[in-house]
Amino acid sequence: MDLVVEGRLFLNGELEQGCVGIEDGRIVAVKKVLRGDTKIDAGYRIILPAAMDPHVHFRQPGLTNKEDFGSGSMAALHGGVTTVLDMPNTLPPTDRLAVLKEKKRIIRRRSFVDYGFFVTTDLPRRLEAMAPHAAGLKIFMGSTTGSLLDNDDNSIHRMLRKAEELSVPVSVHAEDDAMIFLAEAESLKDHLRNRPADAEFNAVRRLAALGAKGVNICHVTRAEVLDIAAEAGMSCEVATHHMLLDINSPLGSRGKVNPPLRQPAAKEALYRAVAHGKATMLGSDHAPHTTDDKAEDFHICPSGVPGVETMFPLMMAAVKRNDIPLATLVRMACEEPARRFKVPKGRIEEGMIADLAIYDPREVTTIEGARLYSKCGWTPYEGMEAIFPQTVIMRGEIQLKGGEPCGETIGRDIKDGTI
Ligand code: NCD
Ligand code: ZN
Repeated sequence: MDLVVEGRLFLNGELEQGCVGIEDGRIVAVKKVLRGDTKIDAGYRIILPAAMDPHVHFRQPGLTNKEDFGSGSMAALHGGVTTVLDMPNTLPPTDRLAVLKEKKRIIRRRSFVDYGFFVTTDLPRRLEAMAPHAAGLKIFMGSTTGSLLDNDDNSIHRMLRKAEELSVPVSVHAEDDAMIFLAEAESLKDHLRNRPADAEFNAVRRLAALGAKGVNICHVTRAEVLDIAAEAGMSCEVATHHMLLDINSPLGSRGKVNPPLRQPAAKEALYRAVAHGKATMLGSDHAPHTTDDKAEDFHICPSGVPGVETMFPLMMAAVKRNDIPLATLVRMACEEPARRFKVPKGRIEEGMIADLAIYDPREVTTIEGARLYSKCGWTPYEGMEAIFPQTVIMRGEIQLKGGEPCGETIGRDIKDGTI
């Protein structure tokens, strides 16, 4: 056995003392006692499957002053995430095979964590060409950073049918563009007025009417949407910012994000619904913009907040406060993304890729932007409680030690057949 990790393991929804045996990057045994060449004794600390973030914007190529795969994937590791799915609003947009291939070439050997790429297109032929290499299809029903848009029912229907035929998972930015206003905005309240919850409700209802079974709704902001989506057989992704921040958070343009932060009551209702297990996945929608970008006038400054690094640690602190069950967090952040995107990760089980994260539940710290690894250098969660991982193992390799990234850029593309 190359490596044995011993401690309180998350197995079948509970913590149990035991050992994980790892060989050639895979979990080969889970037993009470195991011997190995190298042993990590985690003691009373807890050992979880590492998380997978199904929604990040790592900005490469084209916007690498905001982030790149080196800094973004280091931030992911710092937050206990070993697999990320990158969105297609890079420059040029990932909307055809040649661009996707070039993006893959650029990012090869630059990532500390495993990754996959979403593509975007309203042309079925192009999706067909990209399908074998793409983690999923992203449809933008509302305009956001990057001016990609497909808000036409016929076109969406055509793309959903094609994606189903090709077994390509679909994620949708569900805000109906026809219901978004572009009035001058100076505050989070104005931004919310421009992008009302009705735009989200309407987009989700239209998808339901199109029979979008199996489709994933990104960054759901309202508890009601979790119910509408579940009824229509759609899955739902939630982001920490919509559960922990609202229009009264003193963030100014740093809190400008699409879909927008909502009213405090809506935020709390969403948080409660998620704690009750109503959301399918957690996704950070990590959308880094530089402090200079965010210092622009509210109306013209770009939308988006960073989050890949803080998503799991914030939720671990929520688990510690008994706000949310650990099993719900692990299901949303580890098991479900892996299952949905067919990556053999997310559970501590024989045959799975050996991606583990070790947490000390006693080590509650406060988030400081200056200590994060994202290139953007700030966080909307400054001063909030978090529990960061102490050790992260990816494919049996130690990628984070003593809370700091330490490994190599061994990240692989989940679609290139090597995983
Ligand atoms: C994202 C970005 O900056 O790329 N911005 C955001 O407000 N969430 C795009 C997106 O996911 O909408
Ligand atoms: Zn996004």
